[in-house]
Amino acid sequence: GRQRALIRESWQRVSGSPEQHGLVLFTRLFDLDPDLLPLFQYNCKQFSSPQECLSAPEFLDHVRKVMLVIDAAVSHLENLSCLEEYLCNLGKKHQAVGVKVESFSTVGESLLYMLEKCLGTAFSSDVQEAWSKFYGAVVKAMRQGWDT
Ligand code: HEM
Repeated sequence: GRQRALIRESWQRVSGSPEQHGLVLFTRLFDLDPDLLPLFQYNCKQFSSPQECLSAPEFLDHVRKVMLVIDAAVSHLENLSCLEEYLCNLGKKHQAVGVKVESFSTVGESLLYMLEKCLGTAFSSDVQEAWSKFYGAVVKAMRQGWDT
């Protein structure tokens, strides 16, 4: 449908430089909720600032992983259920590292922020609505992984 076309079109403009756009997303995420910073620890080492985190190679790997998951979901718009099991497991892993399911709303806000920055005037209310619904479906699948 129309919403799927809007998502594909807009993602095309983002997916060309995933790391750059992923960094916009996570910079916003740490602005909105600095308490998420301590959840990212590599070799038990905590980052002392968002800036330090945002420039660490291991964290940049995570940024790329997030963008890859969204990319996979966009590729499976017609049959998101193919990814359900994967996303459920991904949810479990995030619960295990201490992520609260509510934090995925803040991630959603940051995703919309990134899309707005990237798309400029092309970020219409239709595009926003399409992404909100789509992201909601991805999170719904990930939520299945919590507490089961
Ligand atoms: C793994 C944190 C959101 C995708 C991880 C890890 C941490 C983490 C600590 C393990 C270390 C690592 O692989 O870097 C968080 C936090 C988030 C968040 C605090 C936001 C509150 C997301 C989102 C996605 C995602 C929105 C994708 C939609 C992944 C993937 C992995 C991962 C694919 C690797 C899982 C594996 O090893 O199989 N995350 N994450 N993360 N995260 Fe996230």
